[in-house]
Amino acid sequence: MTDLDTFITGLPKAELHLHIEGSLEPELMFALAQRNGVALAYDSVEAVRAAYAFSNLQDFLDIYYAGAAVLQTAADFHDLAMAYFDRAAADGVVHAELMFDPQTHTARGIPFSEVIEGLLSAMAEAEARHGLTSCLIMSFLRHLSEADAFATLAEAGPWLHRITAVGLDSSELGHPPEKFAGVFAAARAAGLKLVAHAGEEGPPAYVTGALDTLQVDRIDHGNRALEDTALVERLAASGITLTVCPLSNLKLCVVDTLADHPIDRMLALGLKATINSDDPAYFGGYVADNYRAVAAARGLSRADLARLARNSLTGSFLPPEAIAAHCARLDAFVLAE
Ligand code: ADE
Ligand code: ZN
Repeated sequence: MTDLDTFITGLPKAELHLHIEGSLEPELMFALAQRNGVALAYDSVEAVRAAYAFSNLQDFLDIYYAGAAVLQTAADFHDLAMAYFDRAAADGVVHAELMFDPQTHTARGIPFSEVIEGLLSAMAEAEARHGLTSCLIMSFLRHLSEADAFATLAEAGPWLHRITAVGLDSSELGHPPEKFAGVFAAARAAGLKLVAHAGEEGPPAYVTGALDTLQVDRIDHGNRALEDTALVERLAASGITLTVCPLSNLKLCVVDTLADHPIDRMLALGLKATINSDDPAYFGGYVADNYRAVAAARGLSRADLARLARNSLTGSFLPPEAIAAHCARLDAFVLAE
């Protein structure tokens, strides 16, 4: 039998909750700052990493939006995404659904076309280089207005056929899902899938709002749904996927220690939980690091880990044939162990 590390990286898996801007490693941040003549608030890579001590989501978001200022051209977005894809492929990721935050860039005068063309060219290269497929989730910043989200949806018009879903991220508290009912309805009418961060810091009612008002296909995070038994039963019965991010939860103080992480409780309650990295450059690990960390902290079995990987494949927006092929490979891998 292989060791647990090899087992984890060998599991064919999908990553469903990854903000591409959150994969900006300090080394690349410095390289892009130099390339684009952008001044950084830090004088070394070590100083940047030292600043990554957060006590809540907003602490992190302030630093994350500042870091994104080095991203200016399609080449920058390409390089950012390729660095992520190379690491994801090494972690056994066979399919990645990348969130990107256009408003973070268009608000700085970066054209939407630069952002998406850079990402799309990297996605094609990742498929050629690694056989890793991917798709895009265009996320609206919930601290901005719904009108701004509508303007972003309109700006995405020429690329809508290249975008699989819309999402909702940024500061959760005080910005309930209902604020975005109209733009989510418009995205649904345009044939897009829908996801939303809910229950990371926000109350269980935000998860209910994402389900009832936004009619999402997946919940990003969902941790605080556990506070509401009826909601847990509803989530379990519907089979909706939760994209859980253990190292993110630790770094943003959603849990005090990984030993308190509810990932195995979620599985035991019948929730379709998956493991993801969220913003790996900021939270101390990519997707396999997240599997390893909770496996160690919560004593997950190989069967639990395989279940989580299977959930990621079946919870993806891939066509059913591709999901079936990946699941068959997963089953063969587990059987051979
Ligand atoms: N944007 C990037 N990461 C996020 C997170 N964990 N929650 C909300 N918005 C985000
Ligand atoms: Zn997130």
